[in-house]
Formats: sequence, structure tokens, C-alpha cells
Amino acid sequence: MTDRYAVIGNPISHSKSPLIHKLFAEQTGQDISYIAIEAPLNAFSETVERLIREGYKGCNITVPFKFEAFRIANQKSDRAQTAQAVNTLKFEDDIHGYNTDGAGLVRDIEKNIGVNLKDKRILLMGAGGASYGVTLPLLETHCTLTVANRTAEKARQLAAAFKGVRASGYESLAGEQFDVIINATSSGLSNELPPLPHGIFAKGSLAYDMMYGRETPFMAFARANGAAIVADGLGMLIEQAAEAFYIWRGVMPDTRSVIKALRS
Ligand code: ATR
Repeated sequence: MTDRYAVIGNPISHSKSPLIHKLFAEQTGQDISYIAIEAPLNAFSETVERLIREGYKGCNITVPFKFEAFRIANQKSDRAQTAQAVNTLKFEDDIHGYNTDGAGLVRDIEKNIGVNLKDKRILLMGAGGASYGVTLPLLETHCTLTVANRTAEKARQLAAAFKGVRASGYESLAGEQFDVIINATSSGLSNELPPLPHGIFAKGSLAYDMMYGRETPFMAFARANGAAIVADGLGMLIEQAAEAFYIWRGVMPDTRSVIKALRS
């Protein structure tokens, strides 16, 4: 019997997740279906309850429901616990909650882009949910991690929640250089650029935007200011999906061919 899965968000019509999981299923021979569901903003938990009643095996969760998904999961992975957010639910006797975003980011940078993060000076921009979701997996690479945020107090709160993170405002970064700069802000949505000082990109550095689909002002700034590699977040999207697929099915799909298919 075909096992059913879904992604729940609002809005959801542009989600690439159904295509990604279809390609994973074809490649691994797993008998699954996967659809996109737009839950009303005030009816996330009812939507999950309906899926469970209908026999779904799990779902992915995207904006704006990751915090609510954290609340309804009654078993949580360590990464979900530290992120306080869940992007993957697995329905067994309990509702199991996971967060695969950070693992997806680290795998994309290390495996696909080929940059080993150990001992690298990383600057993470933003102190919202996207940053919380990736902080622990980044720290586990043994990098040095600085978080900068427009509202400096929120960067300080994030640093206080994770041992080993340094908080900064953007102005005080002047004169410093980083090997990897990750944009986890929503600035790209409004076509804006976090106020990064010039000269911030170290020789050979990577600029990574967690957004995908178009060139953001951050990516353009990075190209003009000496970043050696500029990447968008499509690889992260596919890698976090692969981690979810593994949690559900116990099989790790090959992501390279899927990244290639979605880029072409
Ligand atoms: P998400 O869950 O996607 O992280 P969020 O919690 O709304 O969304 O956080 C958005 C992040 O992008 C915040 O860190 C925000 O900075 P503030 O805390 O100062 O609001 C950041 N952000 C949004 N627009 C920005 C801009 N134009 N320049 C710099 N940072 C920006």
C-alpha cells in the first residue's frame, strides 16, 4: 500500500517539496505519495489531526507553522528541542518532531559545495526562526560562529541560548573578515541587504543565502565584494528534504541528481 505524506504551509502553492519527494521515491523505489496542503492560518493542528485520522505517515512543515508543529509534537529530537521549531513530523504511536533544516544547510555546504566548516569563521546573519534552526548543527562542525542581527538584542538572546556563539551588531563587524557568511534573514524578500561592511569577505570565502529562486541583494553584494563562491538555498531545501525522507523511510536518497534536475 502506498504510504502518504504531505507538506503543510501557508502559502504553499510554490512549494518544490512534492517534486523533490517524487524524485526521491522514483530513485529509491519507495512506494509513497506526497502532496502540498495549505492549512488555514488558524487551523494547523486540526489539519495535522485530519492527516493522522486518514492514515498519513508524516509531513513536512513550512512557514508559518514550524513553531506550532513544535508544540504539537509529543516526542522531540534534540535538534528540534534546541531550535524550538519542527519541520518534519512522523506519525507513529506518538507525534515525533524533528528539525532537519540545519543538517540540510551543513550537508549542502560541506558535501555539495565542498567547503569543510571545521575551524571556519562563520557569520550568521539574522536571529529569527531560521537562525535558531541552523545554529546547533553549525556549532557541531567545530566552526567559530558569530551571529549578527539588525536588532542587536535578539542576537544577544540567541547567543545566550547556545554556548559558543558570539553576538554582534552589523556596525561592530567593521574590520573583521569571515570565511563563510550565511544570510538567514528575510531581507531578500523585500529586496533589501543587511548592512554588511565592505571588506568582510575573507579570501576564498563562501556567501550562502538560505533563500532560493532568484539572486538576492546579498548575493549581488557578495559577488561585488570578493566572495569566491556564492550559493543560494536550493541545495539546503533538497538536503533537508533528504533528511526527512531518511527519517520516514530509513533510506537516504542521492541528492546530487535531484539538485541537478531542479536547477535545469
Ligand atoms: P525567520 O523565521 O525566517 O527567521 P523572522 O523571525 O521574522 O523570520 O526573522 C527575520 C530576520 O530577518 C530577523 O533577524 C530580522 O532582523 P530583526 O530582528 O532586526 O527584525 C531580519 N531582517 C529582516 N529584514 C532585514 C533587513 N532588511 N536587514 C537586516 N535584517 C533583516
